[in-house]
Amino acid sequence: MTMDAAADLLQVANRVAVLTGAGISAESGIPTFRDALSGLWASYDPEELATPAAFRRNPQLVWDWYAERRAKVAEARPNQGHFALVEIERRVPEFTLLTQNVDGLHREAGSRHVVELHGNIRRVRCSDEGIVVERWVEGEERPPRCPRCSGFLRPDVVWFGEDLPEGALEAAGRSAEECDLFLSVGTSNLVVPAASLPWQAHRHGAPVIVINTTVEGQHSGPGIHHLVGKAGEVLPALVRAAWPTDRTAW
Ligand code: APR
Repeated sequence: MTMDAAADLLQVANRVAVLTGAGISAESGIPTFRDALSGLWASYDPEELATPAAFRRNPQLVWDWYAERRAKVAEARPNQGHFALVEIERRVPEFTLLTQNVDGLHREAGSRHVVELHGNIRRVRCSDEGIVVERWVEGEERPPRCPRCSGFLRPDVVWFGEDLPEGALEAAGRSAEECDLFLSVGTSNLVVPAASLPWQAHRHGAPVIVINTTVEGQHSGPGIHHLVGKAGEVLPALVRAAWPTDRTAW
């Protein structure tokens, strides 16, 4: 698809839904999961680190791994891809941002209507009671304990085999079915239920634009379009093409 054709779809859209994955944060220095060499799962076994069973088996190993990732996220800043989505949200009547990312960079960039499908690594919660704990002390004992029940604290993210946060999937499904344009940005579309959202939108008649550095493994067919490139370059170019005279953009 050409940038102009994509811009034409965006200019006339009233309800835009966007699904983002690790690819949009790659340019902020946060590794993706499945990119061949650099992806996290290339050097770590998700079964050993991102499942409830792994946490029961070795809570300290899992806590330390997430603490390392949390430190990387704390150093990262939103990039032009994140900011371009803020600009789109400012200009279209209805906008929903569905993210699989746990880094919190969309909100940091200024996005408002965000659904965190896989939680947020900046938060922790009690593994027994499930309550979110705002402040915790990284002491000798890792994981630290819940101040209320002394259960282990765990990252407030969704592990393999766990349900999405309450209401998140329903909200995401609604915005996918009601949108008149769906953007899928920087995701390998391998992990369900998030990966089914673009096709839910497509089944309800919305054109889908896939923005990714590759078309490999991505869906294709009538109504599914591709803009190949880095999100931090393609999204700003799309905003400029859709609103060329609007110089209020960043
Ligand atoms: N711009 C756009 N796309 C990019 C960029 C970039 N700069 N860099 C990489 N990509 C693409 C890759 O081609 C790949 O298709 O981003 C995608 C990243 O895919 P994954 O690493 O599989 O990440 P994601 O789709 O978010 O994973 C889904 O899996 O591991 C679980 O819970 C975790 O939320 C995660 C879920």
